[in-house]
Amino acid sequence: MATERKDMYLPEREFVEQANIQSRAEYERMWKQSIEDPETFWGYIAKDFHWFKPWVKVYRGEPEIGDNEWFIGGKTNISYNCLDAQIEKGRGDKVALLFQGEPEADCKRFTYKELLKHVCRFANVLKKNGVKKGDRIALYLPMIWQLPVVMLACARIGAVHTVVFGGFSAEALADRMLACGAKKLVTTNGYWRGGKKINAKANVDRACMLCASAGLTIDDVFVVDRMVDFDVPYIVYRDTSLSKELMLEEISDFCPAEKMDAEDPLFIMYTSGSTGKPKGTLHTTAGYMVYTYTTFKYIFDYKEEDVFFCTADIGWITGHSYIVYGPLLNGATTVLYESVPTYPEPDRFWHIIDKFKVTTFYTAPTVIRSLMNRDIKWVEKHDLSSLRLLGSVGEPINPEAWQWYYHYVGHDHCPIVDTWWQTEAGGILISAIPGAMGLKPGSAALPFFGVKPVILRARNSGDEPAEEAEVNEKGELCLASNWPGIMRTLYGEPERHISGYYTQQPGYFFSGDGAYKDEDGYFWITGRIDDIVNISGHRLGTAEVEKVLCSHPGVVEAAVVGYPHPVKGEDLYVYVVTSAEWEGNDALRDELKNLVRQEIGPIAIPGKIQFVQEMPKNRSGKIVRRILRKIASGVGNEIDASMLNILAEPGIVKIIDKERIV
Ligand code: PRX
Repeated sequence: MATERKDMYLPEREFVEQANIQSRAEYERMWKQSIEDPETFWGYIAKDFHWFKPWVKVYRGEPEIGDNEWFIGGKTNISYNCLDAQIEKGRGDKVALLFQGEPEADCKRFTYKELLKHVCRFANVLKKNGVKKGDRIALYLPMIWQLPVVMLACARIGAVHTVVFGGFSAEALADRMLACGAKKLVTTNGYWRGGKKINAKANVDRACMLCASAGLTIDDVFVVDRMVDFDVPYIVYRDTSLSKELMLEEISDFCPAEKMDAEDPLFIMYTSGSTGKPKGTLHTTAGYMVYTYTTFKYIFDYKEEDVFFCTADIGWITGHSYIVYGPLLNGATTVLYESVPTYPEPDRFWHIIDKFKVTTFYTAPTVIRSLMNRDIKWVEKHDLSSLRLLGSVGEPINPEAWQWYYHYVGHDHCPIVDTWWQTEAGGILISAIPGAMGLKPGSAALPFFGVKPVILRARNSGDEPAEEAEVNEKGELCLASNWPGIMRTLYGEPERHISGYYTQQPGYFFSGDGAYKDEDGYFWITGRIDDIVNISGHRLGTAEVEKVLCSHPGVVEAAVVGYPHPVKGEDLYVYVVTSAEWEGNDALRDELKNLVRQEIGPIAIPGKIQFVQEMPKNRSGKIVRRILRKIASGVGNEIDASMLNILAEPGIVKIIDKERIV
């Protein structure tokens, strides 16, 4: 690679001169105000929105216990602010959404006016079929243009959407619907993925059956007819074809936006936790709206003529905040692509950037790593000169991937914003502001407005007080403030909200990540320090996978850990103790992989399964996963006497390490 590697990449003068924030001093002044006087800071920004009724007080809360309310007493609607308010500001004929289907010819442009019309019509169909304010509604939809439309339709009428990632199995879908009591669901008759037609409806039918046997009857399944000539069975009285409903004369192009209380729920997003049960992070209306708007505007240095392309799936929080809500609240043009980066060739993203003249491209390190392994001609073939800013999200970006992205995609002049955040946050928490500060490859840089991160030392007992780490000392990344986008609770599990986030370091929100802060105040994220593994940007709790494995009759015990993977970032390594009647062989390995695929989905299929005689356990019988992690990562030699001493049977470690699957 031709570029010279530097420790600090300063933005070019032309970039700074047009930037929304142009110096570190300006950033520092705004950050200080956001922390010291959040009411003035966020109250000023919130004036950019349409309010049916103004708020009485901007903020009340106690960050120590995750209690907060924003824009108290205010009434607004995020769908109105994404659409109607943009039209009122003169953007009616501006392109809001650019949809690229997997087939190249399937490409659609929606202006703000057109998008509003579709949203209103979908909202009216939902209303006609009994969907009401406060109802939870599951959206099991792939990356097709109807997904943002249905989300905005739900938000318009006050229904709480929970989007379930299309790669999840029927069982995982049912679990999530049961957890939030979603009696209605929107899906599709099929979609395209890598040249294949995928039947999503079969999973839905099975999920409905599973829900019914657990006592939740699904009243309505709305089906988006994405595929023509793709026959899926319809269940009379339960299934409704959305395209047929939308053709009805009584369905009007106008649907008034419900006046939502600032703290009314907007959506529930399920994510993995340290136990086997997914957590439903609850995000509410006004705070999420103000926060995604502000992060999008400053971190992506948004300009009116920008075309923004985020490659995340809307089934995860990144897609919610930076394909749908953040861009539309700013009146931007957002790109939605249906399929994978490698179909029909490994240049689909570069082709889309060229085709739509994308200015801002936001993707994940795993995507970059998988594409940088291909012949460079796939990138060089395309004109990427429209790009002015790049982003990264989902996991730490390694220096090789950073340099490749900067040089081949950004042509050595586009800043890369490495954005650290999580589902619970609603929006980006730590990132460079591209015109205001230099970039250090591998560092997420500085906290966003309203965010006060602290690095705390690990505590050995419940009585120890929280203690801040020194500069450059690794510790637990915690947050000491409230910001408007933070989740309000875990749906239906308020105790778990507190015990999961506010007890590891009492008085602080515990992120689950390790990190350190350098002498310039830059944050370096080192990865999860709890039992969560990040596979190609998909967050998975190891306990969730263990639970599934242990349900197999041949499994007595299972321990799942992460190990480094060159493209996916991390993958799952499984240790299994079989029952006497079962032999640990390839046939059982295949059975276990299939079981995980069926119960969770293909994303959770373990990379390696090792059968062991016994697990390394401490004297109270707990599996010491720290040791298993070392072995899986190929650094068994780092297991020292202090680790072995706590084991009841230290001899087992050598055997497991010797039989490690390479
Ligand atoms: O470990 C961090 C990692 O992804 C986790 C959050 O996953 P999820 O809730 O699925 O949200 C993903 C998209 C925001 C974090 O706890 N992570 C996310 N972004 C970064 C990151 N790790 C390092 N650098 C990042 N930029």
